[in-house]
Amino acid sequence: MYAQMVETGAARLRAAGELSEQEHAFQARIDAGVKIEPKDWMTEGYRKTLIRQISQHAHSEIVGQLPEGNWVTRAPTLKRKTILLAKIQDEAGHGLYLYSAAETLGISRDQMTTDLLSGKAKYSSIFNYPTLTWADVGMIGWLVDGAAIINQIPLCRCSYGPYARAMIRVCKEEAFHARQGYDLLMSLCKGTVEQKEMAQDALNRWWWPALMMFGPPDQESVNSAQSAQWKIKLFSNDELRQRMVDQCVPQAEYLGLTIPDPDLKWNAERGHYDFGAIDWSEFYAVLKGNGPCNRERLAVRNKAWDDGAWFREGMQANADKHLKRRPPKAA
Ligand code: 3HC
Repeated sequence: MYAQMVETGAARLRAAGELSEQEHAFQARIDAGVKIEPKDWMTEGYRKTLIRQISQHAHSEIVGQLPEGNWVTRAPTLKRKTILLAKIQDEAGHGLYLYSAAETLGISRDQMTTDLLSGKAKYSSIFNYPTLTWADVGMIGWLVDGAAIINQIPLCRCSYGPYARAMIRVCKEEAFHARQGYDLLMSLCKGTVEQKEMAQDALNRWWWPALMMFGPPDQESVNSAQSAQWKIKLFSNDELRQRMVDQCVPQAEYLGLTIPDPDLKWNAERGHYDFGAIDWSEFYAVLKGNGPCNRERLAVRNKAWDDGAWFREGMQANADKHLKRRPPKAA
C-alpha cells in the first residue's frame, strides 16, 4: 500500500512535467533522508502541505483537551484528578510545540488561531464526540492516544526537521497518556458489574470513531501520495489503521471487553485481524461540522479566546511600555 502511494506520487511528479533543477535537488535530499530545515529551499507545495497538516495537528491537541476537561471536576479520586490534569496540560504543550513548528513555515500563530476559531481549519474528527461517563476518559487514553501514538511514531522520522523533533517529545508523553487510560479501564473492568458495563458502553461508542482518526481509506486519500513522496507520510492510512486493530484486540481481551465488530476475526494468512466496514458517511459528516459536538467545541474555543482578551491586551501593553523605554539602538 505505502509503496503504491510512493509510486503514485512519483508518477504525479513525472506527469507534472520537467521539474526544475532546484525541485530535483529538493526531492533528491528527501529521497536521501536529509532533513529539511526552515531556512532550506523548499517547494511551495511542500510548505503548504506541512502548514496544513501541522496546524491541524496543533488544533487537534488544543481542542482535544475539551472532551477530557469535562471530567476534571468529577474525577472519582484525587489521584485520577491529578493524572487527568497532568495529561490535559501535556496536550496544551503539544499544541504549542506544533504551532511553533508550523510558524517556522511562515504562518503566524494569529492566522492559525483565526482559522480554528472561524471553523475554517480542521482538527481531528475524534474530538467531536461527547464524553458521557468516566469510562470515556479511559477510552480516550487507551484508544485515542493509542491511535495518536501509532500515527505519530512514524512522524518522528518525517522529512521536516522541526515537525520530526517535536514528535519525539510528544510521543514520550503520549505513552503516559495511553498507559493511564488503560490503567483506568483496568480498574473499572476489575470493579463492579456496573463499572465494567460502563467501560463496555464507552468502547461501543469510541471504537469506530477511533479507527476513523487515521483518515479516509487509502483510495480516497487526496494527500497521501504526495505526502508519501515528500516523506511526510511514511505509512498509509490503512496500514496504520490495521496496526491499531492488531494492537487493540488482545488488549480488549485482557480487559474482558468486546470490540463492537462482529466481523472481527484473526486472518492467519494475512497475519492481521480482518475487521468490518467503517461507516465513512459518519466520518465525512463529522468533517463537514455535523458531528455530535462540533458546534460546542468551537463555541468553547471562541469563548476561551474572548475571555482571554484582557490578558492578551495587558501583556501587549506591558510589552509596548518596555519597548518604549528601551534606548534606541546605536545606528
Ligand atoms: N479528522 C479530521 N480531518 C481528517 C481526518 C480526521 N481524523 N483524517 C483525514 N482528515 C482530512 C485531511 O486533513 C484531509 O483534508 P484537507 O486536505 O482539507 O486537510 C482529508 O481529510 C483527506 O485525508 P488525507 O488522508 O488525504 O489527509 P492527510 O494525508 O493529511 O492524512 C492524517 C490525514 C492521517 C490525519 C494526517 O493529516 C496526519 O497524520 N496528521 C498528523 C497527526 C494528527 O493530526 N493526528 C490527529 C490527532 S492528534 C491527537 O490525537 C493527540 C492526542 O494527544 C490527543
